[in-house]
Order: sequence, then C-alpha cells, then structure tokens
Amino acid sequence: MPPALDTRALTKRYDDGTLALENFDLTIPEGSFFGLLGPNGAGKTTLINAVCNLIRVTAGEILIFGQPTTALDARRQVGLAEQDINLDRFLSVRETLIYHGGYFGMEKDDAEGRADEMIDAFDLRAKADVRTPKLSGGMRRRVLLARALMHRPRLVILDEPTAGVDFELRTELWRYIRQLHSEGTTILLTTHYLDEAETLCEEIALIRGGRLIARDSADGLRERFGADSLADVYVKAMATAP
Ligand SMILES: Nc1ncnc2c1ncn2[C@@H]1O[C@H](COP(=O)(O)OP(=O)(O)OP(=O)(O)O)[C@@H](O)[C@H]1O
Ligand SMILES: [Mg+2]
Repeated sequence: MPPALDTRALTKRYDDGTLALENFDLTIPEGSFFGLLGPNGAGKTTLINAVCNLIRVTAGEILIFGQPTTALDARRQVGLAEQDINLDRFLSVRETLIYHGGYFGMEKDDAEGRADEMIDAFDLRAKADVRTPKLSGGMRRRVLLARALMHRPRLVILDEPTAGVDFELRTELWRYIRQLHSEGTTILLTTHYLDEAETLCEEIALIRGGRLIARDSADGLRERFGADSLADVYVKAMATAP
C-alpha cells in the first residue's frame, strides 16, 4: 500500500532567492496522525502548499497515495485547511461548502447532503445562510475545516487549525479530528502548541530552516534528546540545528 504522502528530495527556492525547503524527505504512512513542528518560517506551509500543488517546487518529487501531486486524482484525495482564512466573502456558509463540493466533482445532491452533514458536525446550523464576513473568527475556522472535509479526502492537512481558537472550540476540533482519524483518515497537522502535538499526534517531525531535524513519536523524541518534555525536546532540537 503506498504511503499517504511521500516527498523525495524536495527543494523549494522562491523567486526572491529564499530557500524554504532543502532536500526534504518525508514519508507519512496511510492512517497516521502526523504532526509538523517548527518555528515561524521553518517551511511548514511551503511544504503543505507544495503537497497541494499550490506552488511549483524547484526540485524533487511528491507522491500522494502513490500518485504525483499534479494528477487530478491525487488532488481529490487531499483536503486542506489553510493557515490563512481564505473564505469567499460573497458566499454563505452553505454555498461555500456546496461550491467546494462542485469543484471536486461531487454530484449536486451529494454535495448538498454532505454540506448539511458538515454544518451539523461543526455546529454551524444557525449561521448556514449567513455570508462569511458576518461570522466570528472561530466560526470561520470551523467553516474552513468543514470545507476541507467536504469531498471526503483520505489525507487531511490542517495548517495551524487551532490558532486563535478558544478553549472550548479547540477541544471540540480535537474531538472531531480524532474521530476522523479513527475512521481511517490520514491527518497532517501543524501547530505551535506542543501540548496539542503531544496529545494528538502519533508521530512528530521537527523542521527548521527547510530541513527535517528529527522524526519520531513524542516518547521517542524525548528519549533521543534526553528530555523530560516535548518543550524541552523542541528547545534542544532547535538549538542544535544548523
Ligand atoms: N511567496 C513567497 N515568496 C518568498 N518567500 C516566501 C514566500 N512564502 C514563504 N516564503 C518564505 O519561506 C520561508 C518558509 O515560510 P513558510 O510560510 O513555509 O513557514 P512556516 O513554517 O509555515 O512558518 P509559520 O509557522 O510562521 O507559519 C520563510 O522564510 C518565508 O518568508
Ligand atoms: Mg505556516
């Protein structure tokens, strides 16, 4: 069975010369709950954008369930909740979800039914017909996540899904993401909350300066770095990285 994600010698240099990823190899097996940790500017979002075919890579290869990321079928397998909240301001919550379904080739009935399911799952019923600028920040996050899941992707990529989210919603999102994972969905999550990574992720990759520093379970990382906590691991790993 091919892994959910396989990047080989991935390098991304932006037009202005910034080297955001360098020779980056990462394999994420299907069904895993995987965390990506690293400081601001480490290259996490660049990696995600490359995986989702939103940017052109400079060198290297990306396979999603064994297929190149440029293949339409590969793109259908991935659901992305971006770090920046990028909702169409002229669409309601329901329209946002249905249009997204259409974009991924869902039949009208299926898209409408699934949108309703998502609206209930993310407690957006009262706001279903409200345009997105009228939502609170937390509600927008929920719409972003609901939209990412609309077309039932096998690999869900969440770029800082809980940034700026209150305690209650964070717990709720955790519960939902865990449930997805228990149903077999592969999850790739970035976060700056180490407790979140530790609670949710089976495996964690530490990245800095566009390079992979270490990859292991939280326990494995603690052992390797001789650290008591994941915070301690993080500090040690980042201090020793080039
Ligand atoms: N469009 C772009 N053009 C030029 N440089 C860019 C562009 N997008 C990102 N970068 C640079 O690439 C590097 C990696 O950025 P990236 O957004 O991938 O980091 P990140 O790990 O997601 O950080 P954060 O935790 O702040 O979200 C940074 O130096 C950033 O300034
Ligand atoms: Mg980012």
